[in-house]
Amino acid sequence: MTELYKRAIEEALEKVKMNIERFGRAFPHTSTEGVYSLNDNTDWTDGFWVGVIWQAYEYSKDDVFLIAAREKTAQMKERLLADKHLDTHDIGFLYTPTTGAKWQIEQDKEAKELTVKAANRLMERYREDLGIIQAWGPFKDPALGGRIIIDCMMNMPLLFSASALTGDVKYKKAAVAFVDNARKYLVRGDDSTYHTFYFDQNTGQPERGATHQGYADGSTWTRGQAWAVLGFALAYHYTGNPDYLETSLRTAKYFIKHLPDNYVAHWDFDAPIDEHIKPDSSASAIAACGFHELLQSLEPSSKDYQLVKEALEKSMKTMITEYASKPDEQGLLDHGSYSVRDNNSPDDFVIWGDYFYMEALLRMEKDLRGYWYN
Ligand code: GLY
Repeated sequence: MTELYKRAIEEALEKVKMNIERFGRAFPHTSTEGVYSLNDNTDWTDGFWVGVIWQAYEYSKDDVFLIAAREKTAQMKERLLADKHLDTHDIGFLYTPTTGAKWQIEQDKEAKELTVKAANRLMERYREDLGIIQAWGPFKDPALGGRIIIDCMMNMPLLFSASALTGDVKYKKAAVAFVDNARKYLVRGDDSTYHTFYFDQNTGQPERGATHQGYADGSTWTRGQAWAVLGFALAYHYTGNPDYLETSLRTAKYFIKHLPDNYVAHWDFDAPIDEHIKPDSSASAIAACGFHELLQSLEPSSKDYQLVKEALEKSMKTMITEYASKPDEQGLLDHGSYSVRDNNSPDDFVIWGDYFYMEALLRMEKDLRGYWYN
């Protein structure tokens, strides 16, 4: 397989080079008919493009990527210092693959300080009284103050690494409280996941699961399940808590069991399967990173190891041979979906799909494990 991965990475690097020219100071988000919509560093996804460029540099050591990655990271610094568009749980998505990556790759002290600053900003959404990171809306908002989201598992590495960088355990304590509540309330008894969950913010009582982008409140939105597989594996890495490893494995097995024959997920595991069903390749790219992360901790002779390894290799093969874009196209991985239920980029390039496709390729080819793993 290694030749397949190498070729796929080389092809991706060419596209990233073209996109550096194409996007300039703007940031790609999602696309329509193959054309990325761009923003001025205002969206929750802007860190992924920067992370793609850092990965391109790490693999190739080509200065074109280094210069661009430094420039884009400087733009993320401006946003952080101006405190613009940061009133969200997505701070880890924004700063782990940007200032966090720069710190990891270049040991740049300012990047380290900015990463801690980003973690401080995320801590402003921590509700110690409930043990949650509030997903959306103004802090303690009457409607949204008690709502959490499975995607936020991927913002926890920012908090875990802030504790490691500063020696202050408060970040890790907050992350553990959130992960424990996510495990208890977002992961269901059959190992599937709710996309979001509400608590009564006055009493702390758990209320109900609800979807945001999934097929139905009780359905399993594929990307949410993938965030869980990778997020819990990373939480295990940072804490050594075997419960988190077990949760990652359980959610991974659910994901694998519900895959179609080609091993690339549909957008929701409960959406009716007919000729119109959309895939979400980004969910499979995220899950592939989660499977790879899980394999580091499973016993190689176990059945679980074999199951996860086989799923990882089969889904990578399909993504590379059937979902990777053509040479002149903008994205790296086609057929991702942002929100099928809202008909918002239901089947096209999405920048986090590009990021996790690249991370998965680099994991397979070079054992580089992305920026969430530190
Ligand atoms: N975090 C939002 C999404 O995955 O679409």
